[in-house]
Amino acid sequence: MNPPAIAIDGPAASGKSTVARLIARELGYTFINTGAMYRAIAWYLAQQGVPATDTNAVISLLPGIPLQFGKENSISTVLCGGRKLTTELTLPAVNDSVSVVAAIPEVRAFLLQKQREYNKSEPVVMEGRDIGSVVFPDTPFKYFVTASPEVRAARRAAQGLTDSIDERDKNDRSRRCAPLTQAPDALLVDTSAMTIDQVVQLIINDIRLKLAR
Ligand code: DC
Repeated sequence: MNPPAIAIDGPAASGKSTVARLIARELGYTFINTGAMYRAIAWYLAQQGVPATDTNAVISLLPGIPLQFGKENSISTVLCGGRKLTTELTLPAVNDSVSVVAAIPEVRAFLLQKQREYNKSEPVVMEGRDIGSVVFPDTPFKYFVTASPEVRAARRAAQGLTDSIDERDKNDRSRRCAPLTQAPDALLVDTSAMTIDQVVQLIINDIRLKLAR
């Protein structure tokens, strides 16, 4: 049996990343940002001049893609040719193409394997869109973190980002393969009127209750 996997899903700018990172720190688990994995592929394609809409070209590049998915200080990292990708992952070209890349079933299958790999030897807090529904469907620790569209837009603006989260969410919800969805057994956490600390404590309390069973 694998160590515990905490699944945190939700739409863009719902606060799930911050919350997942803090929960991982409090529990001493590794934090895995799966959005960064999709973003790294989108970035690499842009570097190569391959349009995300050219599905056949994307699929044929995948096996030789020079990306390494690792971790540093209990936080997931993506390296390309030994260089850690950071600001590259939020470039406008990446924001614009990532949900097209993430809709390709072969890309998802490629990353699914890497995501599950992280949990083979250690407990993880993994955030994304399909963690509770597809990556770890059997985990009892599933949380769907959301907020009203107004609050999410304000949070995005506060990050200094102006990408169209509505359009990305629409794409992510409507794709055929592993869409953004709340797993039926996930706890819904509407963070619109909550502080980050309140959200973290609510989820940690639920995890501890379940771990004690
Ligand atoms: O969490 P993020 O905004 O960095 O994610 C970037 C994109 O990647 C998002 O538009 C949807 C996609 N994604 C996904 O399809 N599945 C995941 N588990 C994580 C992200």
